[in-house]
Amino acid sequence: MDCLVSVGAKSWTAELGPEDRTAALAAMENGQVVFLPQLDFTFREAEKKFLTPVWSNGSAKNISYDASNKSIRGMKGDSAIRDELAALLQRYADATRSLMHNLLPTYALGLIRGRTSFRPVEIKGRPTKVTKDDTRLHPDSFPARPSGGKRIIRVFCNVNPEGKGRDWRIGEPFPSFAAKFLPRLKRPVVGSRELMYLLRVTRSWRTDYDHYMLALHDAGKLDDEYQKHATQYSFSFPAHSTWICFTDEVLHAVDAGQYLLEQTYLLPVEAMARPQQSPLRVLERLAGRPLV
Ligand code: SIN
Ligand code: FE
Repeated sequence: MDCLVSVGAKSWTAELGPEDRTAALAAMENGQVVFLPQLDFTFREAEKKFLTPVWSNGSAKNISYDASNKSIRGMKGDSAIRDELAALLQRYADATRSLMHNLLPTYALGLIRGRTSFRPVEIKGRPTKVTKDDTRLHPDSFPARPSGGKRIIRVFCNVNPEGKGRDWRIGEPFPSFAAKFLPRLKRPVVGSRELMYLLRVTRSWRTDYDHYMLALHDAGKLDDEYQKHATQYSFSFPAHSTWICFTDEVLHAVDAGQYLLEQTYLLPVEAMARPQQSPLRVLERLAGRPLV
């Protein structure tokens, strides 16, 4: 099965036909990537000054924006410049929402908007610790923001002004990855999750599902043999293209690239056409018990 399914959308807001919608829904639920090669996000002339890594504060991986309270993090600069980048990220957040409503209307009602990010730093050669290293294959799982079983959808747009692609690798299907690693994982330590919640290490209770997803994410990244020998498919997403996938399911790694916009959404598994395909249901079948 191919990892990518192309959809010819050229605009964030234009109505899409039923073939595009059917293809996109099937791709999402099969754990494929929906690739929109003709969909670009345009920077206004005055916003092109943001196409340099200097605005990044150096400590965070990315500049990140929260549309619910209009706050921006990981960025240097005075309040006027911060407001300007926040406005750009708000525009991207709104564009992705109208695309999601258009392309995946059956998800629209359940969709919960998460953070928006701008990634202006070149990936290649960026030092980081292994479990934070996105050049290693992994499914996404957020340590501080447990999803409680909800799906993670991300909408990426490569906005590189020099025509440079974003080089990804896509790994094996989630069920076979999970079947390999789940038997090696430890159960949560008694009391540890209460403590994390009390100390605000986690924003909400880390469910068993979140515990195992994070442990899978870490175990996969830490296994050098797996990283070297696992089945993987390389693809460079061209500059000025967009792609969408369930990043909690699609094993992915990024080797190189600079300047990316990304919008995160959460989706309750009940909003899926086939909830039994979700990592939550896959892990519950493997574990033989409910995990949330
Ligand atoms: C990731 O989500 O692991 C990184 C994707 C990217 O920055 O291209
Ligand atoms: Fe990731």
